[in-house]
Amino acid sequence: MSLELKPLHPKFVAEAWGVDLKSPLSDSDRKAINAAMNQYGVLVWRDQFLSGEEQIEFSQSFGELDIGLKRVFKRKERLPDERLIDISNVALDGQLHQRDSAKNLSSFANQLWHSDSSFMSPKAAYSMLQSLVIPSEGGNTEFTDLRAAYDELTPALKQELEGLSAEHYALHTRILLGDDAYTDEQKKAIPPAIWPLIQTHPGSGRKLLFVGVHAQRIVDWPIAEGRIFLLDLLEHATQRHLVYSHQWRVGDLVMWDNRSTLHRGRRYDLNQRRELRRTTLNDYQQPELSAG
Ligand SMILES: [Fe+2]
Repeated sequence: MSLELKPLHPKFVAEAWGVDLKSPLSDSDRKAINAAMNQYGVLVWRDQFLSGEEQIEFSQSFGELDIGLKRVFKRKERLPDERLIDISNVALDGQLHQRDSAKNLSSFANQLWHSDSSFMSPKAAYSMLQSLVIPSEGGNTEFTDLRAAYDELTPALKQELEGLSAEHYALHTRILLGDDAYTDEQKKAIPPAIWPLIQTHPGSGRKLLFVGVHAQRIVDWPIAEGRIFLLDLLEHATQRHLVYSHQWRVGDLVMWDNRSTLHRGRRYDLNQRRELRRTTLNDYQQPELSAG
């Protein structure tokens, strides 16, 4: 079999099947998945039950893995390999985290619209998220399409945004949510990264509006004016018709391109387990241009 696709959102999300993600990818399968990612931006694979090692192997077919915010937190982790990122409310002892735990506090920031690791240079390329345990309701992950967001800007805004850049900072969202108990060393562990607000997606050649909550200011603008404008642009980029909401099933593996999409988790009952496992590639390598 070879890669099959069925759109789940008309512009940027497809269900994918026909490739065995547990086996080493052939060159043609890898290229086909890259081409699909360049065309869509989010691919949903159902009934995948990859082990941590298999998820690392699959992810590494597309580039080099990164550990993101672990540079700041340096917590003892539940998952054995630092390249596996624990998106869960489960503590080291296997019990649910206390409601006010540092991990939960930090995880709330994932419920704000963001691109993984946009606060770093290089920023993230693909993320892969494998679902292991899901709550009975809530906890969806929503995605939005930054290329469509650019397409729908007015000509005047497109012109105004050309040449503007935003500074993205790792702890901006945490501090915004009242979680500011970080040492100076932690605050400096990842220096802010500056990214143009209008970018060209390397895989498709399409322009996109690169916003998200890690952006804390517009370079050379007064802070308040920049933040209000960034909020306005984020509102534009997350209009409901641009958004796909993924309702998780156990075994889903969702992969997305952080260079062309934003995402956020949705609220759920913290008294229920929610366990997902993420791998994230950094953007050292640009994927092949889409064949089609
Ligand atoms: Fe994320």
